[in-house]
Amino acid sequence: MNPSTIATARKLFMDVRERMKTRSSTVEVVVAPPFPYIAALSSLSPSKRIALGAQHAFPEASGAHTGEVSIAMLKSIGVSHVIVGHSERRAAGQTDTSVQEITAAVLKQKMHAIVCVGETKRDAQGSYFTTVETQLRTALTGLPKSQLKYLAIAYEPVWAIGTGNTATPADAQEMKLFIQKVIADLFGRRAVNIVRILYGGSVKRGNAEALLTEGTVDGFLVGGASLRASEFADIIATARTYARTHTA
Ligand code: PGA
Repeated sequence: MNPSTIATARKLFMDVRERMKTRSSTVEVVVAPPFPYIAALSSLSPSKRIALGAQHAFPEASGAHTGEVSIAMLKSIGVSHVIVGHSERRAAGQTDTSVQEITAAVLKQKMHAIVCVGETKRDAQGSYFTTVETQLRTALTGLPKSQLKYLAIAYEPVWAIGTGNTATPADAQEMKLFIQKVIADLFGRRAVNIVRILYGGSVKRGNAEALLTEGTVDGFLVGGASLRASEFADIIATARTYARTHTA
């Protein structure tokens, strides 16, 4: 529920857009604001230097669902990405099955789904791997392989979201490899090169580089730091630098 007014959202968006200067061919930047701001912000980025995302969507195409927003509605106002299963929505009652339904519906519309998974706490026995595996296996049930190009998984340990406690690059890398193992098991080895794995949870300008280089994640889901234009722009710049050296 940030920023608190459309005026602040516009200013933040334009500030980030200015700081980015050009559209990047190697790094995709998506801003996923609250529903009421999306249409206005979409018109501020006609060239899609910044793509627009939604924080949630309802899986049914139409019908009597007061208060819900459909994926087609979002598409019609320029949204290309939908975050699915954010831990705050899960905490509000969203189930793995609902995450699966929304993910399938988003991909069917040829829109990008950013599916969030992550444990609430870490224990010495490593049962957080089981938590993430269960979330993944349910969320990805029945997805056609041909649609995997629209899928990204965001590993967001709940204990790291908004807390200032970031997973170490080693933890992020370990979980990335684990998620890839589950994806390979579900869809075959080739799928691993198609599905992007993001990290989220207290990402900031100071830890972005290590998470990309040592953590080897493909990108970030940024919360608090995205509300400060200069910090968000620095994270984007770090990703661009890394992408340049990584693909060179
Ligand atoms: P944070 O939020 O970057 O502030 O930890 C991440 C999120 O909301 O998913």
